[in-house]
Amino acid sequence: MKSDISLTQLTDQLDLLEAEAASDINDAKDSDSLEKIRVNLLGKKGRLSIVLGAMSSLSAEERPLVGQRANVLKKHLQNLLSQRIEYLKDKSMTERLDRETLDVTAMPTGTPFGKRHPLITTTEDIVDLFCGLGYSVAEGPEIETDEYNFTALNIPEDHPARDMQDTFYLGGQRLLRTHTSPVQIRYLKDNPPPVRIVAPGRVYRRDAVDATHSPVFHQVEVLAIDEGLDFSHLRGTVLAFLTAFFGDLPVRFRASYFPFTEPSAEVDVQWRGRWLEVMGCGMVDPAVLEGLGLDPDRWSGFAAGLGVERFCMVRHGIDDIRRFYTSDLRFLEQF
Ligand code: DAH
Repeated sequence: MKSDISLTQLTDQLDLLEAEAASDINDAKDSDSLEKIRVNLLGKKGRLSIVLGAMSSLSAEERPLVGQRANVLKKHLQNLLSQRIEYLKDKSMTERLDRETLDVTAMPTGTPFGKRHPLITTTEDIVDLFCGLGYSVAEGPEIETDEYNFTALNIPEDHPARDMQDTFYLGGQRLLRTHTSPVQIRYLKDNPPPVRIVAPGRVYRRDAVDATHSPVFHQVEVLAIDEGLDFSHLRGTVLAFLTAFFGDLPVRFRASYFPFTEPSAEVDVQWRGRWLEVMGCGMVDPAVLEGLGLDPDRWSGFAAGLGVERFCMVRHGIDDIRRFYTSDLRFLEQF
């Protein structure tokens, strides 16, 4: 029987394929090129298949010889491929380990400068602006009594306003303060009016963490008590402060309710096309003054409480309150 391609030619082709494949595999630099080589050799339309396709022209006695040879070759190539892949894996791991070695004896290249936390600078800026208006700074403890945090601020024990400010109770009438408003009471106990103070500090609420809530956050309390103060003084002070802080953003006062002020308002600024609440305020409720032994016919005043995180978020365009507390240097180094 006459063949198109002889047995010798076929075996020669297989020998050639083996030699070339071995050198290609050995030269492969990464697993991608190795995979290409594998498909090119052993894939359905690979070189081995093509050579085997030519077997049809061999005689029935010759075919098994080539078949056997091809099987051995295939096994051999598979072995070479998997050896090479193991070798490349080892090599890249060794290179990575070398690259990531930490030389603990190396000399430092310079001490990086720390940055101030944006909540600190924002607090200071708020406080500074009020100091410019003649206010001084007062402080109070973060562990408060139920009396100062609630009762003295006209929030008796069964008052629904307590539910809005659920906190962490420490036992024995002590709790983590829910706002900086108790500093009003502490300060007025020790200092007769006229008073003008700002009280910055940390406050606590039993809130679940999300983009706008944190169980720990910061407030600045504002308090002015004098003879003859009325709502226009409150409004003028708030507008002067907000303009100094934000520039010329639109501002609006909305009637609201706080137990310790009457009337009360919430103040919104227009930011990115929507109204955003930035503070609560109002005229100090006569009941609060009376509780302190001050005559409400003589003394009047206003108070405000503002959330530092809110101010900082608006100023810097920060979208998520959690960024303040996660100590991510990529965030902190921007300020
Ligand atoms: N203490 C209030 C709060 O945390 C905020 C507040 C509202 C403070 C009105 C005030 C005020 O002094 O007058 O929700």
